[in-house]
Amino acid sequence: MTAGALVDHADGMDKEYLFDTSSDLGLDHMDYLATVLDGPTTRFLDALGVQPGQRCLDLGAGGGSITRWLADRTGPTGQVVAVDIATDHLVEGPGVEVYQHDITTGLPVEGPFDLIHARLVLLHLPQREQVFDLLVNALAPGGWLVLGDCSERPLSVVAAPTPEDRAVWERMMHVSHDLLGAARGIDLSWAHTVQGRMEEAGLLNVHGIEYSETARGGSAGSLLHLNLNQQAEPLLLELGATPADMARYRELLLDPGFRAWFYQFVCNAGQRSR
Ligand SMILES: C[S@@+](CC[C@H](N)C(=O)[O-])C[C@H]1O[C@@H](n2cnc3c(N)ncnc32)[C@H](O)[C@@H]1O
Repeated sequence: MTAGALVDHADGMDKEYLFDTSSDLGLDHMDYLATVLDGPTTRFLDALGVQPGQRCLDLGAGGGSITRWLADRTGPTGQVVAVDIATDHLVEGPGVEVYQHDITTGLPVEGPFDLIHARLVLLHLPQREQVFDLLVNALAPGGWLVLGDCSERPLSVVAAPTPEDRAVWERMMHVSHDLLGAARGIDLSWAHTVQGRMEEAGLLNVHGIEYSETARGGSAGSLLHLNLNQQAEPLLLELGATPADMARYRELLLDPGFRAWFYQFVCNAGQRSR
């Protein structure tokens, strides 16, 4: 059963999610995300007081690391509903239901939920405003909506072997974020608008965190960049990345002498009134 309003797909933009979570590269992508972001995410969720017996939705659950954390916290009497268009890495079990489902067509099951979490999902969806409304309306009284997204803060170089390497990085960031984002409806400015949207929607106790660290070549953060670059290679070349820049960029991401700021992760929460 599909619950919730249908969302308009008809503005001509290619709405396909850019990456393939089902693929081998997609699985590595999920692992790198968990390595870099599960610490700040679970600390933030923990402070909201996730309790045994609660019902949660993990939207765009990916590799399922946060689904498993939520199931651990809400068990043995709670339930976590994990939803993704690609569910290969999500495992049903006690307290965990998995739905292969496109959220832009509504929710796969009825709410309400005591906690709804979506990390790095809404920034990818051109229909993010409608999905946001859908999620707000699916909250139980007192329920929390937790949205984690990356911001548009430039990923500046801290240390590079040569000045030309800094220029390569800047060019690759431009293609990877500005051009690719515009081509695929990815919005890195969304993250810092979320608290305002939550307040407009009547949510209470709105607050958030920003988290970022530097990533050295070869670290999980750099390997994630490399992984995204490999997954998006055809599109990046189409958008103007040169093979020479691409090759040097990949070398830098494996070079411990290279260091740059990783994505700024912004996690926001708001609570429905009781
Ligand atoms: C960047 S990954 C993040 C995965 C996970 N939330 C994490 O942070 O580790 C985005 C996830 O959202 C899923 N996704 C993308 N579009 C979706 C849609 N329309 N409905 C449901 N899931 C979607 C993708 O398949 C992918 O697993």
